[in-house]
Amino acid sequence: MQALVLEQQEGSTLAAVKTLTGDALPDGNVTVDVQWSGINYKDALAITGKGKIIRQFPMVPGIDFAGQVHSSEDPRFHVGQQVLLTGWGVGEHHWGGLAEQARVKGDWLVPMPEGLTGRNAMIVGTAGLTAMLCVMALQEGGVTPEQGPVVVTGASGGVGSTAVALLHALGYEVAAVSGRAATHDFLQQLGATHLLSREDFSAPGRALEKQRWAGAVDTVGGHILANVLAQTQYNGVVAACGLAGSAELPTSVMPFILRNVRLQGVDSVMVPTARRVEAWKQILKILPNSFYENVSNEVTLSDVILTAQQLLNNQVQGRTLVKIR
Ligand SMILES: NC(=O)c1ccc[n+]([C@@H]2O[C@H](COP(=O)([O-])OP(=O)(O)OC[C@H]3O[C@@H](n4cnc5c(N)ncnc54)[C@H](OP(=O)(O)O)[C@@H]3O)[C@@H](O)[C@H]2O)c1
Repeated sequence: MQALVLEQQEGSTLAAVKTLTGDALPDGNVTVDVQWSGINYKDALAITGKGKIIRQFPMVPGIDFAGQVHSSEDPRFHVGQQVLLTGWGVGEHHWGGLAEQARVKGDWLVPMPEGLTGRNAMIVGTAGLTAMLCVMALQEGGVTPEQGPVVVTGASGGVGSTAVALLHALGYEVAAVSGRAATHDFLQQLGATHLLSREDFSAPGRALEKQRWAGAVDTVGGHILANVLAQTQYNGVVAACGLAGSAELPTSVMPFILRNVRLQGVDSVMVPTARRVEAWKQILKILPNSFYENVSNEVTLSDVILTAQQLLNNQVQGRTLVKIR
């Protein structure tokens, strides 16, 4: 089988597509013929070695995949069944989806929701699942479309673009913060009605600013998240899932204690299976067909290394889908 393999030499990560035999696969009770995978921010950090994502080498990266069960010792999955996987540390400390086969624990797999193809599942991927979990956090926090606009940061990335599309489809007025004016048409097509410059959010601001947002989905952290919190209206909810800008959060308690603002962390890696299944159901129901046509770039395994570099250089918009077979 063909696989993208990461190795380490003198502290540097080396990535190359190699031919391996199936018996090289790690332990697990279900083997999957991988048909589609994707490139997420974390994959790009792992493949380029720019982030300390991988600690055991050699490693096959790829934190998500969709495919068909090749063999199974888990009674919940049968040969030929379509499945998808996101998170659980796959592609980080267990060989992942950027290979023609993966062997994993059945506990990590989600049966493909009826009506979803493997290709569309990976257009959504980890990024889109995370966006859905952020939207669910806003809804559970009581943010409704009537309360005012919702702002999305890092809007043209994988998580951001899916969050824009989901919120728009649910009837929210969406403001998109992006560092690239060239993405404005794309963001408008997805449903953003206010296009805001990243620059306006990047400098240190006051602890409390004019109240503008009923809710927010933040994928970048740092001063941008601090400024979003300062602009969030009374009782608003901010779902924070990313650090594409910074892992710091230079803020004060003011938005929390004077405006009742709630900061809700969102993780998609270890989220329990029942909530994943619910999130996938919602994704299938909410996203229009046009989303799948507009949001993805398709590459093959041999393009992955270059595309990972481009993603970290902020030269990719939307999702990157990897056709494995
Ligand atoms: N918590 C979880 O479970 C989870 C799951 C998935 C992803 N994440 C995190 O969410 C973030 C986004 O992931 P993704 O897959 O959507 O990545 P992505 O496709 O690379 O998108 C990130 C976006 O952030 C913006 N950005 C990039 N560099 C920036 C900088 N220096 N300062 C401010 N904004 C910057 C860019 O949007 P514009 O060009 O439009 O500004 C970029 O498109 C990452 O930090 C990732 O690790 C977390």
